[in-house]
Amino acid sequence: MKYLAIVGTNSDVSTNRMLLQFMQKHFSSEAEIELYEIKDLPAFMEPEDSDVPKKVEELSQKILNADGVIMATPEYDHAIPAVLKSALEWISYTTQALMDKPVLIVGASHGTLGSSRAQAHLRQILDSPELAARIMPSSEFLLGKSQGAFDSAGNLIYLDKVSELDEIFREFVLFTDITTKLLAEKAQNKNAKKFTWQE
Ligand SMILES: Cc1cc2nc3c(=O)[nH]c(=O)nc-3n(C[C@H](O)[C@H](O)[C@H](O)COP(=O)(O)O)c2cc1C
Repeated sequence: MKYLAIVGTNSDVSTNRMLLQFMQKHFSSEAEIELYEIKDLPAFMEPEDSDVPKKVEELSQKILNADGVIMATPEYDHAIPAVLKSALEWISYTTQALMDKPVLIVGASHGTLGSSRAQAHLRQILDSPELAARIMPSSEFLLGKSQGAFDSAGNLIYLDKVSELDEIFREFVLFTDITTKLLAEKAQNKNAKKFTWQE
């Protein structure tokens, strides 16, 4: 499996990035995980022409080429960070590259709740008809107290969380496989969808 792992923040120091880096290393024998930084994407605005910014095109291509996407989100004011929302708005408005793409949501926070409200928020956004990602159901990976969660080599030191992540990732690989097979026929007949607000 080939996954694109989107770091849901533009902060230079981020425990969500550390979580994805850990996953990249920890699951290297099961999957190829490429990290993607959204910090260089422009802030979303409705362009007058239909040109897609280069960075948005790059992200879209990477999403389309991947078997699935992993998103790690911090929690800002009970929601996802504005930069992550902006990146999703670009995808929704231009390439719709996330449509039918298997997605796993994970997240880390410095407090105890592990970004649970932001993850629920992200799930709702990804389920919009314009994004229509196939989010792995009934799964949550909440890494609380994330500032103390990694050792100097980047290993996740909360062993219960490592076991939880192992199980969720195993399930996500299966979910990716099943979802891709189920939607294969639809993928062949895929036409760009028009939404009422686009007419
Ligand atoms: C503007 C702002 C708002 C925040 N709001 C919340 C919040 O609503 N809930 C929460 O648990 N943590 C909140 N925090 C702390 C973040 O959860 C925490 O910094 C972030 O999830 C950790 O992710 P990171 O290490 O990848 O930056 C907030 C932090 C900032 C800067």
